[in-house]
This record gives sequence, C-alpha cells and structure tokens, in this order.
Amino acid sequence: MGRMQGKNCVVTGGARGIGEGIVRRYVAEGARCVIADIDVEMGEKLAAELGDDAIFVRCDVTSESDITAAIDACVTNFGSLDVMINNAGISGVTGPIADTALEDYERTMSILLTSVFLGTKLAYPIMKAQGDGVIINTSSTAGVQGGLGPHVYTAAKHGVIGLSKSVAVEAAPNGVRVNVICPGATLSSLTAAIVAGDKDNLEAAYERLSSKYPGGKAPKPDDMANAAVWLGSEEGRFMNGAVIVMDLGKEVLSDRAVKFYPAG
Ligand SMILES: NC(=O)c1ccc[n+]([C@@H]2O[C@H](COP(=O)([O-])OP(=O)(O)OC[C@H]3O[C@@H](n4cnc5c(N)ncnc54)[C@H](O)[C@@H]3O)[C@@H](O)[C@H]2O)c1
Repeated sequence: MGRMQGKNCVVTGGARGIGEGIVRRYVAEGARCVIADIDVEMGEKLAAELGDDAIFVRCDVTSESDITAAIDACVTNFGSLDVMINNAGISGVTGPIADTALEDYERTMSILLTSVFLGTKLAYPIMKAQGDGVIINTSSTAGVQGGLGPHVYTAAKHGVIGLSKSVAVEAAPNGVRVNVICPGATLSSLTAAIVAGDKDNLEAAYERLSSKYPGGKAPKPDDMANAAVWLGSEEGRFMNGAVIVMDLGKEVLSDRAVKFYPAG
C-alpha cells in the first residue's frame, strides 16, 4: 500500500517544478491530486499522463474564487480534502529597496503570501469538519535567513512561516496540522531562469546549482517531495508548526552564516 493511499490533495503550482514533483510522488504513493496552476498547457499534460488520479484546474492563487474552485474540484471528484499544498510561487520583484515600486511589492506578496493565506483559510474549515487534514506551505531558505533572495521574496517567505506557525496552534485541537517546507536552491524552471537565464535549460541549471552544494549535487523536486510525503502521511502525525529546511545544511555551512564552532 502506498504511503499516501486514499489521500485527496490539492497542489498549487503543481504543473511544474517542486509542485509537479510532489504531484508525481503523491500519485505514485496512492494519492489523488488536483493540479492547481495558471500554466494550462503543462497542467493538462501532467493530468493526462497521470490518468484518473489527477485533475487539472486552472487556478490563479491570488484569486479566492479560483482556490475555492480547486478545493471544490478535489472534494467533488475525490470525496475529501486531506492535504492542501500551498506551493505556487515566483521570484518576484528584485533590486534595491529604494527602487522597489509599491505595486511590484504588492503583486509579489500577493502571489507568495496572500496565496498561502487564502489556501490555508479555505482548506482549514473543510479539514476541521473532517477532523483530519494536513496543510503544507512552501517557504524557502530565504524564509529563515536574509540575503538569500530578493527583499520582497524574503519578506513573503518569512511571512509564510509566521502564518503557518500561528494557524498550527489553532488547528491542532481539531486534528489539522500545518507545516512548512523550506527548499534550498532546487532544480526547477524558477531556478533555471535565474541561474541559466532560461527556464527550460534544466541541464545547465543543474550543473550551476550543484556547484554550490557540499557534495556537488543540487536537490531536485523529488527530494522536496520526500518531505511532503512524510508530512502529508500518517508518518508525520506528530509534526505541527514545523519548519523543515531541505538544503543539506548549505546555508549553515555558508560563509555568511554565524559559526559557533572553531574554524578548520
Ligand atoms: N526551486 C527553488 O530553488 C526554490 C527554493 C525555495 C523555495 N522555492 C519555492 O517553491 C515553490 C515552487 O517553486 P519552483 O521552484 O517549483 O518554481 P517553478 O517555476 O518550477 O514552478 C512554479 C509553479 O507555480 C505556478 N504559478 C506561478 N504563479 C502562479 C499563480 N499566480 N497561480 C497559480 N500558479 C502559479 C507556475 O505556473 C509553476 O507551475 C515556490 O513557492 C518557490 O518560491 C523554490
């Protein structure tokens, strides 16, 4: 029996990258998934490949009605909402703080943080009524440390952690858990666009990302899916309000990190 057998899930940003990796692993472990994404082509392609265990719903995570529709599709087609993964994201506005326009700040926050607020707010009442459910929010190593991403991205990812820890306290008595995954730089179209200048050049991106990691290998979406399976299944039943950093200790090992041990 699969580790996610019988679990019905919504994965935002499920058409590509880390979200796609989670969808693939969840289905392989016996779950059924709604792929909620704005990328219709990739989302429909993935759903077609996975057959009856996946449905694509076009969903812009900045829209409350779109997220409601994605959750409704899960409950109506599959019968419950057991795991909600608020994962969709972009790198957002970049540049010095003084040059950051308010509208770019608001757009970035809306995709990275308001989306997680909406996905959590809309999933929770259904899970509370079921007496069971797991919400997993994707933050970043930029959510626990400054200097690893653009200003607004960093602010939003810290916000994802704060919101998740707070809701975890409300949710636990009702059988619902809320946890956070913080990927380190992981192979995806998002990082390929940054490090290789082309979101589809995954090969060049993997080489560049890997050179930054101790051991010389960067994580792939399936590595993040390992954490999502554990948190989303009964195996993670004592994990609530947890923040799981998946970066091989890269940030801890970096020169920027404060070191509490003698050099050498
Ligand atoms: N890849 C990394 O190194 C890394 C590191 C830390 C955190 N993250 C986070 O992981 C999450 C997934 O990123 P990824 O690397 O897989 O990126 P990706 O670009 O490969 O995938 C992101 C997905 O989100 C979708 N999306 C974007 N805006 C959306 C919107 N408004 N509504 C619905 N869907 C939308 C895209 O269409 C895409 O399918 C993001 O929240 C990102 O910030 C990624």
